[in-house]
Amino acid sequence: MRTRSLGFFSVVLLLLTPWAGADGQARMESPFESARAAQVADSILRLMTLEEKVGQLNQLPGSGTQTGPRVPQGGEALVRSGRIGSFLGIFGADYTRELQRIASQESRLRIPLLFGLDVIHGFRTIFPVPLAQAASFDSARVEMSARDAAVEATAHGVTWTFAPMVDIARDPRWGRIVEGAGEDPYLGGVMAAAQVRGFQHGAGALGLGSSDALLATVKHFAGYGGAEGGRDYNTVELSERTLWETYLPPYEAGVKAGAATVMASFNDIGGTPAHSSDWLLRDVLRSRWGFRGLVISDWGGISELIPHGVAANRGEAAALGIRAGVDIDMSDAVYADSLAALVRSGRVPQPLVDSAVRHVLILKYALGLFSDPYRFSDAARERRYTLAPEHVAAARMAARESIVLLKNDNRTLPLRRDLRTIALIGPLADDGAAVLGGWAAEGKPGEAVSVAAGIRAALGPSVRIISVRGSPVDTADTTGFALARRAVSEADAVVLVIGERADMSGEASSRASIELPGSQRDLALAVIRAARQSTSGAKPVVAVLMNGRALAIPELAEEAPAILETWFLGSQHGNAVADVLFGAYNPGGKLPVTFPRATGQIPIYYNHRNTGRPADSANHYTSKYLDLPWTPQFPFGYGLSYTTFAYSNLRLSSSSIRAGEPVTVSVDVRNSGDRAGDEVVQLYLRDSVASVEEPIKSLRGARRVTLQPGEMRTVVFKLEPAAMSLYDRQMRRVIEPGIFNVYAGTNSSDLITAKLQVTGSVFVLAPSTPRFR
Ligand code: NOJ
Repeated sequence: MRTRSLGFFSVVLLLLTPWAGADGQARMESPFESARAAQVADSILRLMTLEEKVGQLNQLPGSGTQTGPRVPQGGEALVRSGRIGSFLGIFGADYTRELQRIASQESRLRIPLLFGLDVIHGFRTIFPVPLAQAASFDSARVEMSARDAAVEATAHGVTWTFAPMVDIARDPRWGRIVEGAGEDPYLGGVMAAAQVRGFQHGAGALGLGSSDALLATVKHFAGYGGAEGGRDYNTVELSERTLWETYLPPYEAGVKAGAATVMASFNDIGGTPAHSSDWLLRDVLRSRWGFRGLVISDWGGISELIPHGVAANRGEAAALGIRAGVDIDMSDAVYADSLAALVRSGRVPQPLVDSAVRHVLILKYALGLFSDPYRFSDAARERRYTLAPEHVAAARMAARESIVLLKNDNRTLPLRRDLRTIALIGPLADDGAAVLGGWAAEGKPGEAVSVAAGIRAALGPSVRIISVRGSPVDTADTTGFALARRAVSEADAVVLVIGERADMSGEASSRASIELPGSQRDLALAVIRAARQSTSGAKPVVAVLMNGRALAIPELAEEAPAILETWFLGSQHGNAVADVLFGAYNPGGKLPVTFPRATGQIPIYYNHRNTGRPADSANHYTSKYLDLPWTPQFPFGYGLSYTTFAYSNLRLSSSSIRAGEPVTVSVDVRNSGDRAGDEVVQLYLRDSVASVEEPIKSLRGARRVTLQPGEMRTVVFKLEPAAMSLYDRQMRRVIEPGIFNVYAGTNSSDLITAKLQVTGSVFVLAPSTPRFR
């Protein structure tokens, strides 16, 4: 008893001494490498009962009430008895303060709580959905958006976000494609790292001591985006090579950027569910990548090992989860129910539990919660940062940058500002909920700007706007078409806002067909044809798409004079769209996903392999369809501008290097049009002959630049050895000598090329990947 209370006393002293980060200063040392953080965690661990340890691994969800989310019945008593370490879905400065008070004053060991929430693209000020942010190809902007989201969320008591989602998705039927950066591993990695830095206030987890740093979660580990048939939660069947080449890089990038936590994914890969995969959670994540943070289950993911068929009951599921390396159990209390008994019976070794608890305690320490449990629960900060004007302004900038101009025949866009009458047609034109997209946290439709509101604000009251829904979003009803045609006949220009509601992508929202839902395609064609055949001369028609995935829009692509892809742009959607429609902003986003011509082309992605019989229209026996072209509607990286850009002079610092050396690639890009604009300069690479078949090209660099009319910029990319590497047949990461094709250009299919010779012998960058098991 005596030593125990002495121990307790010294721990309290240790905790009260603020560590380098707890005062808001950036630290020089990651919490995962800090001897002091480890010392604190170990001293607390020594005082804990087994039940208190298990409590730290138990995360419970709150539920919404009229006054905001509240802990479930009996939740406060569980906090008092040390049976809960964190909550999910609980926020609010006052309420989190009250819960922290219970934890830090009324529980035996006074361990503060963590509050997790899905802050995916904003808390109350909503930024574009992640797929849209990826379309900006602007990692600095993406980092700033995550930073603003973190400032707002932490002011409401949130300490942990379950973002970024970095799952690569080559199948747009999968609804969760909207939550990630699309199909490309390089872009995915850049976006993953940017968001981690933004949420956590800097790289390498060094910002975690500041009072507006939010713990980031790289999810869903791993391969979740490979769901068969695009059906959410479905099994994933991948070759080990594709896993390493395509799916794993963004997780690794997020981890290397210092993500404090990683979430296991619902899916299995080749029969092993991620929640039971010590190969993924230990061999790959911890041993290969050096991850030192915390692993959390996805909601109910541990008990789902039962329907997966690898555990007979909750006890077995808990044992598999903790053995695999899942530290915290999100939401279904399987650890709370069975872990202590499993340890006592010897079926789970105690050190496994200790190590999981250590991860939790280190993060609580890193956030400075031991020295001040209330540092994220400050009502003044909450008022200051809720919908802060600077965040709202930033959301508008981010929204504008995410818009992709898909078509602009005869310079239909930008529209003249002196129009007298605009027909605003489509079921999404005045929808403040749709613009927010899925996972909109505390975003409120009433605070969001619809396209109608944005146009109205841009043009003022003198312009007449005829608003007609025309059709529902997803039923076959065509009774509104007549009114839509009439609106066209009365207008000078037509803006058609069509696509998907926010709940048609996101979790559990897969679609078997990615065409425009309901009667919207027919509505669009009716409107476009009416405008074309108008007796007073053809009228400009702009199709404004809102959607959370790539869509197949062959008829629209054929017939609409102009098409804007606007995704779901968040609180400022309508203002951003109006900025682009009327020329206040020149769009420069690019597609982070290939747009197929039809659902039947899926999977279709730019970085495919060539095959032995690449498609050739002159040769029947090549890789094609009888009933569809093999090419996409719009390729990866595609997007137009109100100006034009010319590429020339692609060159290398040296046309021949030794394997393992870097090389610099430069290309001249000139704004060849008559107005300022942004271009995303893209760099692709292929090892033309290698020991394994390489994708036909792989993105290795992208830079968004703004150029004035006539301005020329030399854009320089440094290709590090890793960019030239591949996994050889032993799954070593190597650079093989030979000829590399270097490509630069405006999208993945419109490129100029140069050759790079790599000499010497095979250069090994990393040993074989851990064997899949
Ligand atoms: C399940 C989702 O798969 C995951 O992404 C999310 O973070 C959790 N639910 C918590 O809401």
